[in-house]
Amino acid sequence: MTEKIETLHDQAAVAARVAALAGEIDRAIPGDFTIVGILKGSFIFVADLVRALDALGRRPRVDFIRLSSYGAAKESAGEVRLAGAAPAGIAARKVLLVDDIVDTGRTLVYARDLLQAQGAQDVWTCALADKPSRREVAFTADFVGFEVPDIFIVGYGIDFDENYRHLPYIGKVD
Ligand code: IMP
Ligand code: MG
Repeated sequence: MTEKIETLHDQAAVAARVAALAGEIDRAIPGDFTIVGILKGSFIFVADLVRALDALGRRPRVDFIRLSSYGAAKESAGEVRLAGAAPAGIAARKVLLVDDIVDTGRTLVYARDLLQAQGAQDVWTCALADKPSRREVAFTADFVGFEVPDIFIVGYGIDFDENYRHLPYIGKVD
């Protein structure tokens, strides 16, 4: 762990953006819904997002799925796999799928198709960060926290080779 990490969005900026995103989600998704977070990268984001939604009077159910696409490198392996159980109990439910970053788009496209195949009534997608310049498959998230250029970010759940997930802010790896 010798990388130099530069703060990109500090803790207060992330909290403000998550609160604003909860407002966008509250206005867009009516009634009961289930949040499905993609592990591991979304764990902090989902934890804060559900509490921001609670502050708006919303009571989402919460589930997680484990997918993998990245190895130890900074480049995508180009293949997404379900690395655990498929989500249960989402048939006929409205679902908000949440990931840390949209990069090539493969992960969220795969996860959205999986939820639709499980019978979800409607699927919205949310990413803390989006790198639109890196897209390899057509995909636009419904809710995005921060748009970032083609840089490598860490923190607030997001890792580089399993390190830095604990950082309370979003940083850029030099
Ligand atoms: P996609 O399937 O190519 O869209 O990749 C999405 C996944 O790639 C994310 O869930 C992250 O795990 C990983 N990823 C993409 N960009 C970054 C980054 O800048 N830092 C850390 N992980 C990243
Ligand atoms: Mg990930």
